[in-house]
Amino acid sequence: MIDQTMLPTRLVYRTYDKPEGVASAIKKMVIRGAPAIGVAAAMGVALAAVKSPARTKSGLERDLFSAASLLRSTRPTAVNLFWGIDRVLSVASSEPSPSRTREAVVAEVKQMEEEDIAVNKRLGRFGAELLEDCDTVMTQCNAGALATVGYGTALGVVRAAVEQGKMIKVLVPETRPQLQGSRLTAFELKTDHIDCTILPDTAVGHLMALGRVDKVLVGADRITRDSYVFNKIGTYQVAALAKRHSIPFYPAAPYSSIDMSRTHDQIRIEDRPYDEVVKIRGRRIAPKGVPVANPAFDATPPELVTGIITDRGLVKRPLVAGLKAMIS
Ligand code: MRU
Repeated sequence: MIDQTMLPTRLVYRTYDKPEGVASAIKKMVIRGAPAIGVAAAMGVALAAVKSPARTKSGLERDLFSAASLLRSTRPTAVNLFWGIDRVLSVASSEPSPSRTREAVVAEVKQMEEEDIAVNKRLGRFGAELLEDCDTVMTQCNAGALATVGYGTALGVVRAAVEQGKMIKVLVPETRPQLQGSRLTAFELKTDHIDCTILPDTAVGHLMALGRVDKVLVGADRITRDSYVFNKIGTYQVAALAKRHSIPFYPAAPYSSIDMSRTHDQIRIEDRPYDEVVKIRGRRIAPKGVPVANPAFDATPPELVTGIITDRGLVKRPLVAGLKAMIS
């Protein structure tokens, strides 16, 4: 995997051959973004299957469950992580022998890898219909190729529109404290020669008030049964400001980000370390002894959402009924 903590200054690839390595990479955000950590966690379980010395099915299952529990403990908010682990475990449980189990889980994770790109491209095509030539799109965080296996969700929509020949400009809030916007989204867009401008997170409302934003496109870490959209911290305030200025706000998410089993009040929002806020690249930027709040995600309520772009089409308002109809 690309080590996303090093971007944009260094492009470093990391290889892991044990589930413990994958779990630590997810926790430290070497890999991040909901669909990417879903597939990575599934691959972590597959590594456990391949590396396990167990000769019996029950012995192998014990090793798989132990890897799964470690991987589940890495990051709590994105549902894709749990979806990826559960999908591999379910394939493993349906096979009779250890050797067939190992083959089946490896085949499954390879399929998940391919599927993710296909799903993003499909979602991208649906979303691109909402963009007009010369639109300026604001995003938040990174919901691009780096956050998925490839192509991206919110940035997949931008890519699909550009492939259709539309001129699209992207406004990229830097997304403090981890700077996924300025470090990762801007890196991806620049690499693909898509017009982009980085702005401080604090400039979002002002640019909207000046009429410089036509649409907002973001990713999602989890969309609950009551249509709350969990995404990178700051998304809620972008959505609230978009509503204030009558700018359409669309989350773009694959089916693996939809969690029909829970409502928003049942979701744990990850708290990230103190140092992410008080230091930049190891240098202190705040006085010692002052407490810090560093929630990694927030929940945007459905009344701020214009529609949800999925790989099965656009979910329109009312979102709760639309999501239910799409999933059934
Ligand atoms: O903490 P991160 O960088 O993993 O958070 C990522 C996001 O919030 C993305 O917007 C989300 O995972 C969607 S990615 C297609």
